[in-house]
Formats: sequence, C-alpha cells, structure tokens
Amino acid sequence: MAGKSGSLHVVMFPWLAFGHFIPFLDLSKFIAQRGHKVSFISTPKNVDRLPKIPLEFASSITYVKIPLPRVDGLPENVEATVDLGGLDVAVLKKAYDGLEPELTRFLESSAPDWIIYDFAPYWLPPIAAKLNISKSWFSIYSAFSMAFLAPPFEVLIAGTDPRTKVEDFTVPPKWIPFESKVAFKLHESRWMLESRNLDGSGVSDLYRLGSVVKGADVILMRYCREFEGQWLKLVEDLHPRPFIPVGLMPPPVEKNSLENNESWTAIKDWLDGQGKGSVVYVALGSEVSLNQLQLSELALGLELSGVPFFWALRNPSGLPGGFEDRVKGRGIVWKNWAPQLNILSHDSVGGFLTHCGWGSSIEGLMFGHPLIMLPFVIDTGLIARVLEENQVGIEIPRNDVDGSYTSDSVANSVRLVMVENEGKVFKDKAKEIGAIFGDQDLHNSYLQKSVDYLEKNRNESR
Ligand SMILES: *[C@@H]1O[C@H](CO)[C@@H](O)[C@H](O)[C@H]1NC(C)=O
Ligand SMILES: *[C@@H]1O[C@H](CO)[C@@H](O)[C@H](O)[C@H]1NC(C)=O
Repeated sequence: MAGKSGSLHVVMFPWLAFGHFIPFLDLSKFIAQRGHKVSFISTPKNVDRLPKIPLEFASSITYVKIPLPRVDGLPENVEATVDLGGLDVAVLKKAYDGLEPELTRFLESSAPDWIIYDFAPYWLPPIAAKLNISKSWFSIYSAFSMAFLAPPFEVLIAGTDPRTKVEDFTVPPKWIPFESKVAFKLHESRWMLESRNLDGSGVSDLYRLGSVVKGADVILMRYCREFEGQWLKLVEDLHPRPFIPVGLMPPPVEKNSLENNESWTAIKDWLDGQGKGSVVYVALGSEVSLNQLQLSELALGLELSGVPFFWALRNPSGLPGGFEDRVKGRGIVWKNWAPQLNILSHDSVGGFLTHCGWGSSIEGLMFGHPLIMLPFVIDTGLIARVLEENQVGIEIPRNDVDGSYTSDSVANSVRLVMVENEGKVFKDKAKEIGAIFGDQDLHNSYLQKSVDYLEKNRNESR
C-alpha cells in the first residue's frame, strides 16, 4: 500500500452505458485496494442504479453526481444507453458533452493526479493538460477491435478513414500485416460507415476516438498478451502511445454470494435439478433489443434444439404464442434480474449463447464454457470472428446482407456445441482458453503493473 503522501487521487469518467460503468468500477476497486482515492463521476440516475460501494471501499471510492444537461430531443428520464429505447444515441452524446463545464470545475477544485476517461469526451484531454492532470484513455475494447476500428494514428487524428464504403469494412484493413478473419459482415458494417460521419452531437465517433487517443498519456486496455497477443503489438506499432494491458479483469467469483437472495435461490433450485453441463445459458446483454422476427426465430430454435436452456430475457413481449408452456420443465424464460456470474459458475451450465460483448465473452470463457455466438452491436461481430477462429464456439449462421437467421440455424448450432460428438472440439478449446481467461493471478498481476504505472507517472507539476 502506498504511503499517505504517495497515494493518488484518480478520477474515473466513463461513457453513459452499463457495459462501460462496470469495468470502470472494477478498475476503481483495484486502484482503491492499493490505497488510492477514486472519484467516480456519472449522472444522478446512473449513480443511483450502480452497485453500492462495498464497505471496504466506503472511504476510498466516492460517487460524484454531475447532473446531465438537458438537450433538445432527450427525454427527461434518459441518462444511459439502456434508457434510449430506439432513440438516436447521438442525443445522449450531446448531453454528455454538456458535462464539460461542471467536470472542469470539479477537476479545478479537486486537482486529482489522474483522470481515466472513456472513448467519448474528445474535449477532455486539453482541459486536463492545462490543469497538469495526467490522463489515460481506458479502452474497454480489445486490441483486435481497436486495430480494426481505428486507422493508423496520423489518419485517425485527422478524423479520416480510407474506408468509405460498407464493403470496405467486410475485409481486414490493409494495416493489419498478418492473416486474420477480423472484419465485419455486411449487415454489421453500416454503423461503421455512420461512425465516420458527423452525427447529431456535432462530431463523429471517429473524431472522438482520434481525440481521446491523441490526448492520452497512456492507454489502458482490457487485454492481455496470453490471448491473441500479436494484436497488442500491432496497436502499439500503429499508435505512438504506451499501451498498458490491465488484463482481462475476470470478475472475482464469490462462492455462496447471494445466498439469501430469492431470485438466485429460485434460479439455483432449477439449475440444481438439471444434469451436469446440460443447460445452455442464453443472454444477449442489456444493449441488444431483438426485433420480432429475431426474437421468435431464437425462441423457436431453442425449442427445436431439445436442449435445456435458461434464457435471461428482460422484455419477453413478442415471444411466439404458447412458447413458455411448450418448453415448460426444460426451458426457463427469466424476466427479472439474473446474476450472470452465479449462473455461469453453476455445474449444470455447459454452454453460453451470447451476443459476444467483450465482458460477457470473458465471463463465459473464464468458466470454460463453449460459446454459441449471436453478435449484433458495435464490435461484437469482430469478437465473434476472433473467438470462432480460436474454436471456442461457433457463430449462428446468418444472412450476410440483412443478418437474419432461422430457427433451424439456431437449433443446429445449439445442438452442435451442446450435444453432438463433433462439438467436443469447442468444449475442449473453451476449457483450454478458459484457463487463461479465468487465471485470476495472471490478470491481477496485469492490474498491479497498471497501478504501478499510474503511481510512477503522475504529473508532478501541479
Ligand atoms: C437479489 O439481488 C439483486 C442485486 O442485489 C437485487 O436487485 C434483487 O432485488 C434481489 N432479489 C431479491 C428477491 O432479493
Ligand atoms: C502546470 O505546470 C506548469 C509547468 O510546471 C506550471 O508552470 C503551471 O503553473 C502548472 N499549472 C497548474 C494549473 O498547476
């Protein structure tokens, strides 16, 4: 633990999405464990929905609420992407940009040693620089996603990209010097093209990315060298910034956690009654909302597979008529809060049908589960390509152009991974790679080194 005089004050400033809050919070806990103070900044409604700060960190991590400025087109109750319900995310970005004056005042008055920010606040690095605050972009994106999404440094910071058509994103870019399958399908590519254009927030996502990379003294990245390490070397070659992998941050598994929580007890009772490794856990994360056809083909596919399933589905409206009755006993549609980590750690679970968010993929693989992959948003298609290349599972076959899939393709994929003999390779590979993903000591040592870096490289001229 650092001495009092040596301890740091670190400000965390994540983007307004739960998939970002949680890794920022996990990193905060680790920094706090080392004897440092953390101010975690978000808006009031988000702070109220975040996990309570555990008692052991009560004096070291502080949530700081900065009200989200109102902007045209942003409804009163929207403070995170999960609240958008189909609204354009650009309006939320615009409101987030409006946090600038209040955040600046906070930085001026509290004079922290470091600010660790997300991909969005393109305006922040110059402010921190003026205040002599050291600054880091924390990339919750993997090195292979970064290598694909961002052109080489000079091109990136100019806010440009040589890729100008959707088709350009369906092949690996020319700055990837080795053989790779990292590219989008046509149906996944449109957002990439859009992210190159100005949106309703007045800047493009590409410009945001360029600015946060350019302005970073160091880039912390949720990644490690033991899995697809060549990509880390590549992003370092492409961008003249120190990249420090913080490890994969597999969440700690607390045995007997939630012991008296009725939701978990009910889930556990059901899982206890299933055969070892027989259940496929189905969860597509909080940001994916399926349309009617996607939802019903997925449901019918699970039904057709004959495989026991536990489906965490917050909004079940649009399930095929009579579905839940027909699968009764074999399949559960769980409409409430579901503790993903507890479920994945249960012996009866033997596979994970996932949208391939980097966090979810890590959580599934740390328990050695083979994956049945159904990616939709942002970089999840790229993650699925890399994981499929590593044979830890398969992607559900889709139509390349519109991304549609059929109940048959769902059922066949689930059966292949869960029950067919040919699926053994995925189980074996998932165990092998899962041993890396779940290696707490390995990933802890990355976190240690990252905090060492923050301690040694603070700006002394404040
Ligand atoms: C179980 O725990 C979760 C998370 O802390 C909480 O949201 C939920 O309300 C609890 N459920 C019950 C029935 O206690
Ligand atoms: C930042 O550092 C410079 C150079 O050491 C110094 O002149 C300046 O006063 C500092 N500014 C603040 C706000 O601390």
